[in-house]
Amino acid sequence: MRHQTPFRRLSMSLSEPPSSGRSSAILPAPSRATTANRSAGALSGNSPVPAVRYEHIEVTPLTPSIGAVVTGKQLRSIDAATFEEIHAAWLRHLVLFFPDQALTPAEHLAFSERFGTPHVHPAAPYADDNPAIMVIHTDADSKRNNGGGWHTDVSADEQPPKATLVHLHQLPSQGGDTLFTNMYEVLATLSPALQAFLTRLNAEHVANYSGFYGDHAPQRASPKCIHPMVRTHPETGRNALYVNPGFTRRICELSDSESAALLKMLFEHATHPRFQCRYQWSRNALALWDNRCTWHQAVWDYYPETRSGLRVSIVGDRPTYRADAVGTDGKKAYQNGVKGVA
Ligand code: SIN
Repeated sequence: MRHQTPFRRLSMSLSEPPSSGRSSAILPAPSRATTANRSAGALSGNSPVPAVRYEHIEVTPLTPSIGAVVTGKQLRSIDAATFEEIHAAWLRHLVLFFPDQALTPAEHLAFSERFGTPHVHPAAPYADDNPAIMVIHTDADSKRNNGGGWHTDVSADEQPPKATLVHLHQLPSQGGDTLFTNMYEVLATLSPALQAFLTRLNAEHVANYSGFYGDHAPQRASPKCIHPMVRTHPETGRNALYVNPGFTRRICELSDSESAALLKMLFEHATHPRFQCRYQWSRNALALWDNRCTWHQAVWDYYPETRSGLRVSIVGDRPTYRADAVGTDGKKAYQNGVKGVA
């Protein structure tokens, strides 16, 4: 049984007729595992987004879990049908990479705005006199690397960004990759009893940017917010684990030691490589990721070289957990003996 609302975009992509699309991605039939998982007591809301056939773009998955490279279009000029396909591919693969995009900052912003209202980072420097266009820059004088640990963008905001779009203009001769993790699968590969327990918990997210951005005056005070630990994605209806090492400080309902132990275990579980992809950038590539169901980390392995570009994020909804979320997941790794799973 699928809800028709509020997961409207998903139902649109589901209703796309089969066609002679140039590329498509096929998922295991969700129905195959539905009964088994229900009887095992797994959470609902973990169904992969079904296959989509693409007429306007080429979509090449990077791993079975997460990430796809999209070619065939310049993002500065795409029509509504192409945007719908990009949007569907984004919901399915969680992060998309578009190589060779010669975009001005204004064009980068304009494409980003097709996903919603730009988010202003609390503290980061910005370009073009526009606080929505965040500067990503690391060089020989940098004290830190932006995005250098596992995190979900600004999860300490009340309405954290749903989408982030990074366009890199300058790259080191080697390195500077970004890693992404599929937080739907991180949740779905926990035992059903632990998944159920997590749905009853909330966690505090705190952002402390003091000293991060040198002389640049922050846009607003460091945010702090409590969010549910399991988040139902408002467009796919799938549940994801919504805590991250960058911002999550404690689990509200547990003692300090219980909270620290559970977060440690969850963070270890989430860093298993089976949930990840790693993107090796080329100059002028653009990455688009979904912060509602992913973590990412930018690797600083190129000192003293420079890596530079711009980032636009899009405001999301306030995270919520819906017990009536749709679907179930077909692959429970804890039953398949994946190492590192409690
Ligand atoms: C970020 O966390 O927004 C930066 C990602 C990157 O530079 O690859």
